[in-house]
Amino acid sequence: MESCSLLVLSLSLLTLSYQFLAIKSDEALIQNLCHKTPEPVLCADCLHGDPSGKAADARRVALITVRCAEYDAEQVYNFTFNLWQNTPKSNAALYNILDTCSSQFLVAHDSFRGATVALEDQGWRNWRGTAIYELTTQVTPYLNRCLDLFKKQPQLPLPNTILVGTNAVNQGIAISLGILKNIPDKLTRS
Ligand SMILES: *[C@@H]1O[C@H](CO)[C@@H](O)[C@H](O)[C@H]1NC(C)=O
Repeated sequence: MESCSLLVLSLSLLTLSYQFLAIKSDEALIQNLCHKTPEPVLCADCLHGDPSGKAADARRVALITVRCAEYDAEQVYNFTFNLWQNTPKSNAALYNILDTCSSQFLVAHDSFRGATVALEDQGWRNWRGTAIYELTTQVTPYLNRCLDLFKKQPQLPLPNTILVGTNAVNQGIAISLGILKNIPDKLTRS
């Protein structure tokens, strides 16, 4: 009888410490993955924000980080579109640049789809190559077009939110590329 309850006690202790270890090593896993990207802190924030961020394969982790960047792209598009709508047409130079900026941000945002499709679809063979290609050639050039336009017209004040928002999306893409290029398919918990 006594040995039986001892067994139950040690089993439940085992379960407790196992759960503790699991949580700890998921955190260690996130830190370990994110240190392979140029923005470890932002990367960890992104993975913490996803309830299923503890998924154990590279493709899933990459998908979560791409979605974070996609969300940031939606925010900078929304902001720019609203700013354009609130700019009087009589302020032609600013009106026109914001018009182009919002359409380019929209293309950038919508072009994340090429990467997310490759990462969502279990059957996609070259998911790393496709996602890297889509992010670098189909998203980044459109994303940065607005800042380029403002650079060419220094008399127009660049709205700080556009600068900060564009930088955030670029950092998010750099994180995704870091994951896509540097981590193995199957993740092992330390
Ligand atoms: C962007 O605006 C749309 C429409 O107003 C809204 O539904 C969406 O939540 C906004 N997205 C972000 C990231 O703020």
